[in-house]
Amino acid sequence: MSISEIAKKIKASPTLALNEKAAILREKGDPVIHLGGGEPKSKVPLDALVAAAGALNTGEIRYTPADGIPALKKAIIRYTEEFYGRMVEPENVMASGGAKQAVMIALQTVLNPQEEVIYPSPYWVSYPDMAKLCQAIGVAAPPEDGTFYPRIQDIEQRVGSYTKAVIINSPNNPSGAMYSEQFISDIVEFCEKKDLYLIMDDIYHRLIFDNRKPINCYDYVKDLSENSKLIVVNGVSKQYAMTGFRIGWAVANKKLIETMTNIQGHQTSGPSVLLQKAAVGAINGVQSSVENLRVTLENNRNVMIDYLNSFEGVKVTKPDGTFYCFADFSVYEKDSTKLSNYLIDKVQVLTVPGVEFGMEGYLRLSFCGGIKDITEGIERMKWALDLNSPNELYIGDRKLVRDWT
Ligand SMILES: Cc1ncc(COP(=O)(O)O)c(C=O)c1O
Repeated sequence: MSISEIAKKIKASPTLALNEKAAILREKGDPVIHLGGGEPKSKVPLDALVAAAGALNTGEIRYTPADGIPALKKAIIRYTEEFYGRMVEPENVMASGGAKQAVMIALQTVLNPQEEVIYPSPYWVSYPDMAKLCQAIGVAAPPEDGTFYPRIQDIEQRVGSYTKAVIINSPNNPSGAMYSEQFISDIVEFCEKKDLYLIMDDIYHRLIFDNRKPINCYDYVKDLSENSKLIVVNGVSKQYAMTGFRIGWAVANKKLIETMTNIQGHQTSGPSVLLQKAAVGAINGVQSSVENLRVTLENNRNVMIDYLNSFEGVKVTKPDGTFYCFADFSVYEKDSTKLSNYLIDKVQVLTVPGVEFGMEGYLRLSFCGGIKDITEGIERMKWALDLNSPNELYIGDRKLVRDWT
């Protein structure tokens, strides 16, 4: 079978593949613990459900404008004012099928074949493949000091004549690191000076811990005119636990949004009206669910960190936000894919290999599930890896006996 050169280069999303694996194992009756997930388990806000049900009940579910329904654009404008202190116009906003589609279309809008987009490592799994879909090149920038916190020189030294854009995702998937205010201010200034597009993937910006305040990129922008190359991406998936609704958005200059909308119009048209209405409900509705989720995640993070800190040899950086912890397991196995598969085989714990995020020897562990999953999952991992732990482990009433050394 002949498939295109671009298509050949695209891998399956490892995180989506893991969700499928968890579902298959559960179907078989295996006592799986999924620490690889990327979605909060809380309920969708009632305001979102009521809004979607109201739209469904009309019995008239039609196409929407390619850039989103006016009510959603209005809600996004209000959101941008509330959380970024920035007044934008409807022509500055495009609603899309998740933040994922917004980032993808932004890249399609700005990248020519062979041009480069830089992002700090570890990075979200989709950025490299999105660059490939544009026939462009994704350039990972690991912080030189070995931390998860980039400095401007980490980006600066990778900029060349082919560089067109930078993507910043803070707080970061998979490390949970919220980049310093200094770095955000430096990168905004740097991109303006070098005339680069800057895509801020802010999907986790309200899920931050330890009394941190979100860092607002607009605070550092000098050029707020319609020439600005800043593209801010956000969405309802994570903060409102609405991953299945597939609504995200981009805010940028009018010309960019017009071009992005042209692309979206041919790709998918506007997102489903039901889901857009639900997003309007969530954004304009009671916001307590976001704070409840944030508090739950902070507590889960603390439990996970305590458990991991008692894990011999594992190196942990405390996440500042999100619901992920990126821990260094290289003392046990340097090949993270091998390690992840081993943990599924031995103790049915699902984790995402660090190599998918650009760093070998690490595993991404999610703390978006319940406390029991976190504690039991890490206990099982300990049993499978740390040979000093007792020889037997009970999973429910199933007794496992270690038969390897
Ligand atoms: C960094 C980052 N950006 C974007 C997305 C996509 O979000 P959405 O569900 O809105 O497409 C995710 C989802 O995992 C993510 O982690």
